[in-house]
Amino acid sequence: MGKGYYISKHLATAAMVLAAIALVTIIALSVVYNREKSKNAAKFTNATTSPVTPTPKTSNEPWDKYRLPDTLSPEYYNVTLWPRLVKNVNGMYIFTGISGVMFTCVKKTDLILIHSNKLNLTLFKGHHAKLMGQSGVTAPAIKTTWFQTEKQYLVIQLEGKLKPGKSYWLYTEFTGELADDLEGFYRSEYMEDGEKKIIAITQMQATYARKAFPCFDEPGMKAVFHITLIHDLETTALSNSQEIKNVIIDETAVTRTIFGPTKKMSTYLVAFVVSDFKYISAKDKKGVRIWARKKAIEDGQGDYALKITQPILEFFEKYYNTSYPLSKSDQIALPDFNSGAMENWGLVTYRETALLYDPRTSANGNKQRIATVVSHELAHMWFGNLVTLKWWNDLWLNEGFASYVEYLGADYAEPNWNMKDQTILYDLQRAFAVDSLTSSHPLSQKKEEVNTPSEISEIQKSSPNMRCSKHCKTLRNCSFSLLNQAVDQTPGVKLPYSVHEIMNRWILQMGFPVITVDTRTGNVSQKHFLLEPDAVVDRKSEYKYVVKHHHFSKNEWVLANLHVSGYFRVNYDLGNWERLLSQLKSDHQVIPVVNRAQILDDAFNLARASIINITLALRTTKYLLHEREYIPWEAALRNLNYFFQLFDRSEVYGAMQAYLKKQVKPLFEYFGIISSNWTTVASGHTDQFTQIIALSLACSTGVEGCRELTRSWFKKWMQNPHNNTIHPNLRSTVYCDAIAAGGTEEWNFGWQMFQKATVAAEAVKLRSALACTKVPWLLNRYLEYTMNPEKIRKQDATSTIGYIASNIIGQPLAWDFVRANWDYFFKLYGTGSFTFSRLISDVTYRFCTPFELSQLKRFQKDNAETGFGSGTQALQQAIEKTTAKIKWLAENKEPVLQWFLSESA
Ligand code: BES
Ligand code: ZN
Repeated sequence: MGKGYYISKHLATAAMVLAAIALVTIIALSVVYNREKSKNAAKFTNATTSPVTPTPKTSNEPWDKYRLPDTLSPEYYNVTLWPRLVKNVNGMYIFTGISGVMFTCVKKTDLILIHSNKLNLTLFKGHHAKLMGQSGVTAPAIKTTWFQTEKQYLVIQLEGKLKPGKSYWLYTEFTGELADDLEGFYRSEYMEDGEKKIIAITQMQATYARKAFPCFDEPGMKAVFHITLIHDLETTALSNSQEIKNVIIDETAVTRTIFGPTKKMSTYLVAFVVSDFKYISAKDKKGVRIWARKKAIEDGQGDYALKITQPILEFFEKYYNTSYPLSKSDQIALPDFNSGAMENWGLVTYRETALLYDPRTSANGNKQRIATVVSHELAHMWFGNLVTLKWWNDLWLNEGFASYVEYLGADYAEPNWNMKDQTILYDLQRAFAVDSLTSSHPLSQKKEEVNTPSEISEIQKSSPNMRCSKHCKTLRNCSFSLLNQAVDQTPGVKLPYSVHEIMNRWILQMGFPVITVDTRTGNVSQKHFLLEPDAVVDRKSEYKYVVKHHHFSKNEWVLANLHVSGYFRVNYDLGNWERLLSQLKSDHQVIPVVNRAQILDDAFNLARASIINITLALRTTKYLLHEREYIPWEAALRNLNYFFQLFDRSEVYGAMQAYLKKQVKPLFEYFGIISSNWTTVASGHTDQFTQIIALSLACSTGVEGCRELTRSWFKKWMQNPHNNTIHPNLRSTVYCDAIAAGGTEEWNFGWQMFQKATVAAEAVKLRSALACTKVPWLLNRYLEYTMNPEKIRKQDATSTIGYIASNIIGQPLAWDFVRANWDYFFKLYGTGSFTFSRLISDVTYRFCTPFELSQLKRFQKDNAETGFGSGTQALQQAIEKTTAKIKWLAENKEPVLQWFLSESA
């Protein structure tokens, strides 16, 4: 076969043009960003005047609507909070607070609506608040105050009208529970030196600031915050801005820490922490500090984060061409934290695994996670915090953009990690997976479609998944007309359509296209890619797909989407597929590494959508015998894992194992050689990832010598628990393999080590490995542990159930467990939790039989009344995926079996 040619060198399909244009818009974004930013304050205050969305409810009262009216606009808050870190006489942890908000009246009104949730407000002359006029204005008297609990409002009805242009001061005093519910102002507990420690921390996004103090809790309602915290002498208080005063109040022996005014910002970015944590800092101008439990800091676990934070901040300053706007940048690792990390302005909060790194026990994957999470959250300091979405329907933009630039920041901090190529795996292919279902939705939903806290948190769930790959889904808030201007002013850039027209195709329509290149006819056409070909899409795609003609040479292969720079899948005529396959076989390195990964991923997904034969997709894995690169192997593994869960309960399993064993053996042997028989790890960063794949796939398919290795390592550790010599990179695989092969003794050992672990990354490895046992009663007991926060932290409960569900023996147990305890999980995680939708998708992930589908539907029916909260879409997706799998299996199981049999003979 002669040298093939790359389609994008010679051709431009409509989609490619779009992709290139979208890339231009990213560049243009940098140009307009500055301009946008300077208008920020004015523009986003105006956001409060966005029209009120009527709720479908019959009531037309303002307090029955989820959106605040556009009558009032907050200017600043004075908030003083006092968390009590010991139980009160009723055995409860509480906080008390006083809060005032200065707001301006924009439109005449006799009604004040302010968010307040689960706060017990003090009565003043029978009312829950006091109102005062400013600058000589007399405030109308309060007629009545009451709570609209469903909409989480404190409703204040007045005797007279507030006057436009005049400012008023609304004052409240309150008590709240400092619960361990991971929302709003909450408490976290951990053990240190045999002592139970309690800290008070916050998580406001999206709708929990109202649980800490009454506030106009919408992202567009920006204001300045003056925060004061009262706390015990031996603790430290932190908030978004620098502390300006620290006063010891003698009579109560507590400290009052007063913080400087924040920038004008959204309520969801407010944060405070009271703890006895320690910090490390470098002598730098950005005021970077890394905070964590004393022991963790003393162990040096914050050192890596400290090393990268300042360079990444400096990178983004250059990237955005704007200085970091605050005088300090605290990063704090919290023992209980629901999501991965949160970009509170000036006080970024993290799960411990997302910030703390211990070179002796953490894997290089843990290190990469820290670099990308830090980078992601720092990217928000500008995009999200300085420039903010008006309403949650555009959260995709906020998260999508940060999820793209996190790779740039991490790449700057770690230039040898091949971060940019890895976006293919972690952004593009994940986004494709969600976006190819009919239950997907367009990136930008209408304001009216996002109202309730559950709907808001559902958007949150999908946003990080929808990590926008660099070219696709960009930047609506940065007004497209500004982008248009920027493009017009950029010499040499000419667009065939306006930026509006181009971008709306990507963000207002759901899904993405599959481009079909027919090298015989020269036709290049595209259509909406859906995993389920017969699925009915109830959202019409209004834009026409394009067909173009090109001339291709007959004997050379054509490769579209060079370097995978476009957000689409590619299909070819059979002849071209054959030519690509034979090129992969003869010399795969001629094809760029990310394209090798994408060929695999496209082929498997096209086969899942019945667009090509499954045997063709399977044939793309044959060249893996020679592949040594991480990205294609990871792409293959993901698709094969999908196969595993479809087939590991059927006769296909044995033949599939035999084939994969054959394919991975050379990789296992290769790493055996370069790691001196597994005594060291590869030197390259992504090679270390490939090494992990080699070990885990070789052990799971039974390559000779693999299990003997892992089990002997684990045994050695059991014999000497104080000296774990297993390389941190290989621990997840080794622990899982040994616990799966072992019984109670291995499990109990793992559990003990888990409880003793002082490094969060090590604890996660053990927690997930404990789910690998094949012993049903151990799995059931482990499931029960997820309802006991003393054993499994609340932040880890749903992911632990997910680990158990990914085990073939554990799956039905986990499904029964979740159904049996649905009310408990729904109450705890259903309305806002970041991980709730994952719980549903995890426990239903393996479903592929008509019986399982009927169970799912029954589950949907049985719980219709309680509802599915932020997991509603996940449940729809589970039903859709199961339906598709049943159909697909009926047609494809036999050819798959035959193919594996013939290839493993
Ligand atoms: N702002 C989000 C976290 C968030 C979103 C919390 C919505 C609550 C509601 C943060 O920037 C984020 O994206 N965190 C990720 C980690 C990140 C590296 C992708 C997370 O928590 O998974
Ligand atoms: Zn984010």
